[in-house]
Amino acid sequence: MTLPTAVEIDHRDRALQAAFCDYVPQVFRTVDFRRWCAWGEWNDDYRAFAVLDEGRVVANASVMRMRLCIEGREVIGYQLGAVGCVPSHRGRGLSRMVMQAALAYCGAAPVLLFANENVRDFYPRFGFTPREQALFGTALHVEPEGEPAPVLELAEPHVRAGLVSLCDEGLAVTGRFGARGHGRIASWYAATAFSRPLRQLRGDVWVFAGVEDGTLYIDDVFAREPFDLRAHIPRLIDQPITAVRFGFTPERWWPRAGVVGEDTEAHLFVRNLAPPPGPHRFPVMART
Ligand SMILES: CC(C)(COP(=O)(O)OP(=O)(O)OC[C@H]1O[C@@H](n2cnc3c(N)ncnc32)[C@H](O)[C@@H]1OP(=O)(O)O)[C@@H](O)C(=O)NCCC(=O)NCCS
Repeated sequence: MTLPTAVEIDHRDRALQAAFCDYVPQVFRTVDFRRWCAWGEWNDDYRAFAVLDEGRVVANASVMRMRLCIEGREVIGYQLGAVGCVPSHRGRGLSRMVMQAALAYCGAAPVLLFANENVRDFYPRFGFTPREQALFGTALHVEPEGEPAPVLELAEPHVRAGLVSLCDEGLAVTGRFGARGHGRIASWYAATAFSRPLRQLRGDVWVFAGVEDGTLYIDDVFAREPFDLRAHIPRLIDQPITAVRFGFTPERWWPRAGVVGEDTEAHLFVRNLAPPPGPHRFPVMART
């Protein structure tokens, strides 16, 4: 019997991309890459390390190249995602094989990933250590006022292109522990309908934000220069709000926001990477 080996799938290989897209919902029921691929968002920064069985992907570990921001410095690192094995093939070492292939590709660079609570003991086997994530927010009583900020549709190619360039060239949403140039991760959330609406505050100031139960959730901010986010809040809400929550460490956009708890749903693991001491939140729209 020949031992299986991991193959590397990149953005040019349409047939293997389709096999990868068929694999994902077999392991993660609500997750789908089809629309994101159809949008042409899979580029050279994303590659999947997969084991195939008769042309089907049965185990996978994907790698996204990232421009990480750590305490004001920018470093190239990687984020793992879509790690798994179809139920029929588990317990045969196939996930170990794809993890090893993915990590060999990353080399000595910093690597991070967001796990789920069932696999918290899996990643330490590969040199990862868990790190806490905080939740940031502020009390704020505001009524809707002014012209509502228009919603931008990421189904439109020019909006996707605009998001990618704004994200590549603009300010990082946080300098503590975050990323730049993650427009194609943010668009994945929109492609799977998991994201809050993308709203245009003005020409090149865009935010992912939405209101739930009187709380405004601001998931990401894309801008080329600093601006007064507080002044735009009345245009982002369609009902009175009493609180704001941030999907990132808000030291740049709301320095007076505080820690309102621990993000118990985020299971961050890091390897060759030291997040800053103190509370921080890796941007939710930059997680794969
Ligand atoms: C977790 C998962 C990837 C393991 O896949 P697998 O192919 O069965 O794993 P392997 O056979 O390669 O096991 C590699 C090692 O990890 C261990 N392991 C497997 N699942 C584990 C788990 N859930 N927790 C801790 N260790 C685990 C194995 O015992 C094995 O250890 P060993 O090398 O010392 O013998 C698989 O169960 C899965 O796809 N789960 C659902 C998807 C998921 O949650 N993915 C993670 C997303 S963050």
